[in-house]
Amino acid sequence: MNQGSEASARRARRNVILTAAIAGLGGLLFGYDTGIIASALLFIKTDFALGSFEQGLVVAAVPIGAIGGAAIAGPAADTYGRRLMILLAAAVFIVGALGSAAAQDLTVLVIARIVIGIAIGLASAAAPVYISEVAPPESRGRLVSFFQLAVTIGILVAYLVGLAFNGIEGWRWMLGLGCVPALALGFGMLRMPQSPRWLVMTGDDFKARAVLAKIRVDDPDTIDQELEEIEQSLDEKPGAWSELLQPVVKAALVVGVGLAILQQVTGINTVIYYAPTIVEFTGVNSSAGSILAAVGVGIINVAATLVALRLLDIKGRRALLMVGVSGMVVSLIALGAAFIGGGGSTLSSVVAIASLMAYVAAFAISLGPIFWLLNAEIYPLNVRSKAAGIGTMANWTFNFIVSLTFLLLIELLGRPGAFWFYAAIGIVTLWFCWKYVPETKGKHLEDIQAFFQARVEGKDPDPDPESGSFEPSGG
Ligand code: BGC
Repeated sequence: MNQGSEASARRARRNVILTAAIAGLGGLLFGYDTGIIASALLFIKTDFALGSFEQGLVVAAVPIGAIGGAAIAGPAADTYGRRLMILLAAAVFIVGALGSAAAQDLTVLVIARIVIGIAIGLASAAAPVYISEVAPPESRGRLVSFFQLAVTIGILVAYLVGLAFNGIEGWRWMLGLGCVPALALGFGMLRMPQSPRWLVMTGDDFKARAVLAKIRVDDPDTIDQELEEIEQSLDEKPGAWSELLQPVVKAALVVGVGLAILQQVTGINTVIYYAPTIVEFTGVNSSAGSILAAVGVGIINVAATLVALRLLDIKGRRALLMVGVSGMVVSLIALGAAFIGGGGSTLSSVVAIASLMAYVAAFAISLGPIFWLLNAEIYPLNVRSKAAGIGTMANWTFNFIVSLTFLLLIELLGRPGAFWFYAAIGIVTLWFCWKYVPETKGKHLEDIQAFFQARVEGKDPDPDPESGSFEPSGG
């Protein structure tokens, strides 16, 4: 490569990384809200004199709104574009964050939190798809996972903001500060291009070519080839809902919706939402100790996600899933064991806290980023945003169900039993990943469709790329 083309390759890489990073900020909204509500609720419940049902409403409003937001984002991202949905998410989030910070009673607070949920649903359905469509195949795993990285950073920042405003009981500040990432997302996205794949789908090949010229190495052959592949994969305009019932889409939905549900029912949010409570179960009864443990969980979550970002495009999605989910199962078994006989000894506290950390790290290198990644890359273009919206809705629905039932499950099965229950689901997850999840590392989005086509035709493609039966067709 001569100096000029090296410089343009660098520029192209910079453009695509910037685009992915800005869209990834959508994850910050999601993470910040997930992490902030526990701290804010401590004070809201006293100010508004809330019972436990009303507290549940304040928390549940967001996942309920998110299910709606993801449902809207699917078809709307086909009609109006992925970029506009992300912009809309930022604007709606700002309205919700300001509304909840200013709320004078429970009704306004719950409505404002439903609005926040709608924004999060829009962002979590549209942002990963947008990134997957601008990213080149060889770094798509890393770039789409910026979204999950932003989720984990949002959770950590929220724990820290919660700590900072704890002293002044500043729940309005905690909720209102959510505007900051939303503003960054909004202003950032204003400068970002449309998805080239969406442009082709709407018939604007001219603009699609201009976007590709900006975000790909300045090599006309690469651009022509990519445009051609997109066009070939797109024999129709945006598909109707009924097209989700085509066998090839159904086969992909089994993987996307399956992972959406398994990501939640293996219990991650019991740790994210209840880390301080779980640490208190172990016998640590200073609030500083449990908050510190929550911050520790937040830091490990970010650090392990950074590791995943490096490995996804090298080791592949399947290898990380198998290793990570196995790690989750082992640490859940250990976590349950630490509570046998009520826990309480120093040894059991140490085992419990260590297994909590190991569990979060194992999730963060596997199900955390990989669900969002596969949900953005496995569907055919003409139904991609609708199908991704369905995966996102399933994820939020089970997020809601697990958070609601965790304490009940403990009452029913006891602490060891509850964590072993999640471990058992982890074993089912391992089987599911091994049997159904294809390796998509380095593949063009268009080639991934060919894999599912072969699967429904009964050609039973080997999901493992090393076998050679699922090879990329170009570059
Ligand atoms: C999940 C969230 C979870 C977060 C933790 C995401 O991938 O969808 O439910 O809170 O990871 O990092």
